[in-house]
Amino acid sequence: MASVDVSVGLLGYGTVGSAVDRLLTENADDIERATGHRLRVVKALVRDPLKDRGFQPDGEILTRSFEEVRDDPDIAVVAEVMGGVQPTADYVLELLRAGKHVVSANKQLVAQRASDLFAAASSAGVQLRFEASVCAAIPVIKVLRESLVVSNVHRVLGIVNGTTNYILTEMENGSSYADALAEAQRLGYAESDPTEDVDGADAAAKMAILASIAFGSRVTLPDVPFEGITEIETSHLRAAQEMGLAVRLIGSATLVDGALDVRVGPSLVDRHHPLAAIEGAFNAVMLQGDGIREITLEGPGAGGSETASSVVADMVSVIGTTGTGFLQNDPCWRRLRRLPRGELRTPAYMRVEVDDRAGVLARVAECLAAHEISVARLIQHQLPDGAVLHVVTHEAPTGKLESAIAEIAAMEEARATPSALPVISDRGVAGLGRS
Ligand code: NAP
Ligand code: HSE
Repeated sequence: MASVDVSVGLLGYGTVGSAVDRLLTENADDIERATGHRLRVVKALVRDPLKDRGFQPDGEILTRSFEEVRDDPDIAVVAEVMGGVQPTADYVLELLRAGKHVVSANKQLVAQRASDLFAAASSAGVQLRFEASVCAAIPVIKVLRESLVVSNVHRVLGIVNGTTNYILTEMENGSSYADALAEAQRLGYAESDPTEDVDGADAAAKMAILASIAFGSRVTLPDVPFEGITEIETSHLRAAQEMGLAVRLIGSATLVDGALDVRVGPSLVDRHHPLAAIEGAFNAVMLQGDGIREITLEGPGAGGSETASSVVADMVSVIGTTGTGFLQNDPCWRRLRRLPRGELRTPAYMRVEVDDRAGVLARVAECLAAHEISVARLIQHQLPDGAVLHVVTHEAPTGKLESAIAEIAAMEEARATPSALPVISDRGVAGLGRS
């Protein structure tokens, strides 16, 4: 399969832009194997080329001249990751008219200027994509416009701003509003001016975009009344907790008898509702419709790499995989060695039925220790003529767990072969304000 070089331009090289360059650089082989294209950033528009960057760009790609990006005939696709509505809208219009595909992470641009931008893209025969503008890493736009096209969605409910969700959950854990906001800014979740995060305008723009796609009707920012979290105090959060509720900034878009209601505001969410469990800078979108009943997509809603992953995904969609055999030709497959069966690490639960005699518990514990397996929790239940030990271990290789179980089964005090099950305890991901 012959590889095709694709020159990429960036408008902006900040939190998201530098992460896009890093992802394209570090994953160039993976992208090439999957698509047959090698993507390389050749120009990036910034205000100050001398500033320190999260990922230092190669050579002299940073420029203060928009024209250098627009007029470079080699650039086929541009990622708009600079934010703001002006001069951004003018730049994007010029790029589209110049025949370049554009992918954008800018929800305000899409929510306020979609109709003229799409018209320009259409006339020029190029694509404008915007997955990263809503819920960063969650591919909700793709799901709505491709997977659920015949699902007749009638309600969209979501936590669509990472910064405010981070602030609310940090405040639940004792932080002050000001400290939590400062931390969200430091971690790169907040907009450069966080006013739109905390006053709800960011979430309102995202709900306008989601509603437009879900209901196939143009919804713009002025159609969405919004309220943020600036009036929420710790006392509200405590009272909510006492009543089994959680305060969350909720966006809703509902179709009622053919009429549309889209809004954003703080709501009290029942602790058992899936949206109450969304913590830190994570987002979630519940899609309800005929046929699908309900689908919830959850994932990182802010952050440089998280957002950049959606920008890159849009670029891959734009350059296309037709003719390069995505998942159909041999070059896209990697040869991976198989992990030996006993090497996978997991916490585990064990049930061990034993004689109820002095020293038995110690022997079971010694056997686990000899295999370097650490006990996290232990309960003993009495039987009429013995005892059952319920043991939960910390993470250990399954091979060691199996050896320990075989040795415990062979002890004369063991009544039957112990049973064991893996335990799923943490989310397996860190960061974005939760473990
Ligand atoms: P950022 O860190 O402030 O980066 C903005 C970049 O654009 C900077 O490189 C800046 O140049 C450049 N820029 C801004 N205005 C410019 C102008 N008028 N002319 C030339 N260059 C200009 O912002 P970000 O967090 O990466 O966000 C970028 C976009 O992604 C925004 O639309 C935001 O809403 C969206 N987004 C962000 C996140 C997130 O978690 N951060 C998530 C989803 C979507 P200098 O570096 O020289 O200042
Ligand atoms: N500032 C936004 C947020 C970034 O916190 O959700 C993602 O659009």
